[in-house]
Amino acid sequence: MTTPFHRAAALGAAFVLGASVLSACGANEAQESGSGEGSGSGSGATIALLLPESKTTRYEAFDKPLFEAQVAELCSECEVLYYNADQDESRQAQQLTTALNDGADVVVLDPVNGAGATGMVSEAQGQDVPVIAYDRFIAGADYYMSFDNETVGRMQGEALVEAMGDEGDILMLNGAPSDPNAAQFKAGAHSVLDESGVTILEEYDNPDWSPENAQQWTNDQLSKYDASEIDGVYAANDGQAGGVVAALTGAGVSADELPPITGQDAEIAAIQRILAGEQAMTIYKPIPIEAETAAEVAVELATGEEVGETTDTGVTQSEYEGVASYIFDPIVVTQDNVADTVIADGFYSAEDICTGDYADDCEAAGIS
Ligand code: GAL
Repeated sequence: MTTPFHRAAALGAAFVLGASVLSACGANEAQESGSGEGSGSGSGATIALLLPESKTTRYEAFDKPLFEAQVAELCSECEVLYYNADQDESRQAQQLTTALNDGADVVVLDPVNGAGATGMVSEAQGQDVPVIAYDRFIAGADYYMSFDNETVGRMQGEALVEAMGDEGDILMLNGAPSDPNAAQFKAGAHSVLDESGVTILEEYDNPDWSPENAQQWTNDQLSKYDASEIDGVYAANDGQAGGVVAALTGAGVSADELPPITGQDAEIAAIQRILAGEQAMTIYKPIPIEAETAAEVAVELATGEEVGETTDTGVTQSEYEGVASYIFDPIVVTQDNVADTVIADGFYSAEDICTGDYADDCEAAGIS
């Protein structure tokens, strides 16, 4: 059972571990983390966690440490084998084979390429190893868990239209076409934007979600359009929003003249930009519930326990494309509710956010 205290403790660990992993070692090597303390059943099972990339901060800073902490709590003798594919599909396939050779009893897989990962699912299932599709859907997986991705796109679109007063011209930057979530974010956003008074000047599918590509593409658009013609930007995630801000400010737009820009992931840099008025919104996906639900189902599968219809994390199973699924709710964050969302949840502390120049922005927003 996860108490708020345990969750806060796991989050504390997330920051420490996330920071050290990011700075200390390449993320693509398998790292074994046998769990230390804990009150679990002690079955000695092996769980493989395969994450897709490390340019988006969530994976190393939140998903990995939170998952490992929860496995440790639920199963004291379980071991987690961890891999990050750094956006390389064939490396991820290799990592799966290695994990199976090293005795994985269950695989938690966030695929670089959702459609391309069905072969990986068959490979694991062929060895009687069940697969949990983590955050991104894979047809044929045994379980799937994610946030409601179309709703994410709709929320982004609605916030942008509202911030623009339902008129004006925008640039649209979507996620990687290989990521099934990206298509869902895009469809959700289009369902709002296409019915609104907003016009999409240019649209781009960023092949790896990278801030660098987003910045480069926005720069390219600035050779066709004057910055003053861009009244808003739909960026599918915070990393890209950062690239857009860099391109626009690099082209001479001052920070307080930036148009409304969307985002996703509640990265700390995005929360700071929101408080400084440089980004209109982000989508906060409370990763603890996703990582802890994945850990719970993984431990149950690995130790031969029954998987709950309703998990200890409080989520009830549904079905998505024929796969037993757990779907979580995303939350919109704007200047008005930073305190009530990411800070109230302990995702970040005010001290994490209110550094340097942001101290004044925090004070203005009543955050201390
Ligand atoms: C998606 C994921 C998002 C985000 C994105 C890259 O698959 O759901 O949270 O990480 O990749 O930013």
